[in-house]
Amino acid sequence: MTEVQTPWPQGTECVARYNFKGTSEQDLPFNKGDVLTIIIVTKDPNWYKAKNAAGREGTIPANYVQKREGVRSGGKLSLMPWFHGKITREQAEQLLNPPETGLFLVRESTNFPGDYTLCVSCDGKVEHYRIIYNNSKLTIDDEAFFENLMQLVEHYTKDADGLCTKLIKPKVEEGTVAAQDEFSRGGWSMNRKELKLQQVIGKGEFGDVMVGDYRGTKVAVKCIKHDATAQAFIAEASVMTQLRHNNLVQLLGVIVEEKGSLFIVTEYMAKGCLVDYLRSRGRTVLGGDALLNFTLDVCEAMEYLEANNFVHRDLAARNVLVSDDNIAKVSDFGLTKEASSTQDTAKLPVKWTSPEALREKKFSTKSDVWSYGILLWEIYSFGRVPYPRIPLKDVVPRVEKGYKMDCPDGCPEVVYNIMKQCWNLDPAGRPSFQMLKEWLQHINQGMGKKH
Ligand SMILES: *[C@@H]1O[C@H](CO)[C@@H](O)[C@H](O)[C@H]1NC(C)=O
Ligand SMILES: *[C@@H]1O[C@H](CO)[C@@H](O)[C@H](O)[C@H]1NC(C)=O
Repeated sequence: MTEVQTPWPQGTECVARYNFKGTSEQDLPFNKGDVLTIIIVTKDPNWYKAKNAAGREGTIPANYVQKREGVRSGGKLSLMPWFHGKITREQAEQLLNPPETGLFLVRESTNFPGDYTLCVSCDGKVEHYRIIYNNSKLTIDDEAFFENLMQLVEHYTKDADGLCTKLIKPKVEEGTVAAQDEFSRGGWSMNRKELKLQQVIGKGEFGDVMVGDYRGTKVAVKCIKHDATAQAFIAEASVMTQLRHNNLVQLLGVIVEEKGSLFIVTEYMAKGCLVDYLRSRGRTVLGGDALLNFTLDVCEAMEYLEANNFVHRDLAARNVLVSDDNIAKVSDFGLTKEASSTQDTAKLPVKWTSPEALREKKFSTKSDVWSYGILLWEIYSFGRVPYPRIPLKDVVPRVEKGYKMDCPDGCPEVVYNIMKQCWNLDPAGRPSFQMLKEWLQHINQGMGKKH
């Protein structure tokens, strides 16, 4: 039986699985890992016409490339699929049955809280090794020490080093999938050897943001060293694989290292974050059309998220970046979730979050619209902090009573009216991003006529 594959449509992104030298002038040579975009489906389903990152076009063999796909397993993706949390010794032994030498899992120690236990199947028997956590290091034998469980597992995968066997096969927790495998299946894995990290451009709680070079392209890299934090960022990266818009910061790929580091590689945005951009240029440099361009850029990204049922939850000028050619792109999908899930409200940015989201954790596209109104205010006040001169603790009570910020100096009345509509206390009364885009485009055209 032959499998008939539906041809990939124009615009499909593929990642090269092998090197291809090409045999004729019409062929487009590429190297393993290159990203290619399909331009035309040829008559022969085994060949496509494609374009590479440099814009060069040519014919490529379909079986040398894989289609890039969104990673959808969301919360089930795990960096440590062999970690089973709090299970008992007996449960661990059941999980490692039938016996298979080298099959292993890690659980939290029941006898020694804070420690872990490595359980390994060895010649029909299960051995339980206590992993001691002492002085922020993990050790089994007081000889080899590790920063985290991933490093420990990596070490004993290479060498038994005193255990009954080396670790061969992880017993994966039910319902989880190995993040590494899913990212490579979707065509998003990058090669660590080809990434040159050059300079720190930002610091976050999670680690550094660096500028680097990947195969000759300048990239931004979030470097996450700690395994537990990396696990949280896996969800962010998987959301980014599913979204593509010219006004969203584009994910280029992910590197998951065996020893627990995670690198999230995105396009490099030369002019930094919008709030700093506005503050440093100010009104002498930025005219009304520059400001309106930013509001439209962000609105288009948000309209796309709205249409795809994604809620950003942390829209603010600090989370918008500016490219070399002055295009604003929304970034920081840390909190982005498919609509309807709930989250911890303790860490929310109060001045940007809608009242119903603060009060009842009701996040929706309409709560993003509220934040968008605050972002408009930030843009037209050139990066001021919202609610100036109001103590933080008074912001929510006043907003709940209907207080709205004043029109920023020099901001057109039509734009201020839009802000006020975004700050409707009733979420249902707020406009959609689709409507906002139409209104802003209308203002934009009006401005054009004046010139
Ligand atoms: C922790 O480490 C210190 C020094 O490295 C050692 O003296 C102590 O005995 C260790 N504690 C345990 C519980 O192993
Ligand atoms: C605003 O956007 C338009 C259309 O993309 C562009 O032609 C114009 O140069 C932009 N203006 C500024 C100041 O960036």
